[in-house]
Amino acid sequence: MQWVKLFADEREAMSRILPGKPQLLLVHGKRICLVLHQQRFYAVQDRCTHNGESLSKGTVNHFGEIICPWHNYCFSLQTGRELSARSSDLNTYPITVDSTGFYVGVY
Ligand code: FES
Repeated sequence: MQWVKLFADEREAMSRILPGKPQLLLVHGKRICLVLHQQRFYAVQDRCTHNGESLSKGTVNHFGEIICPWHNYCFSLQTGRELSARSSDLNTYPITVDSTGFYVGVY
């Protein structure tokens, strides 16, 4: 895994990412969907495992699930699991913040 710096610190991340609004990032050629939900950041693959739609075009509900805009499949931001097991899990990416910056781990 490689840690990639996205922001100088968590404050910058909070100022750039709107709560509940998925944001598409291109990180070393990977399309990653970054979400701020209830003061926590989550990163999952952007490509829906059902039929490939961009999840960053979707919405986030109060339970911390991202809903694909195409057929409304619903994935846990924490585990990547589709709630009704209709398609495979999303890849999830860890996030860490330390005194040097805000990082996402990509593999
Ligand atoms: S492409 Fe995402 S639910 Fe069908």
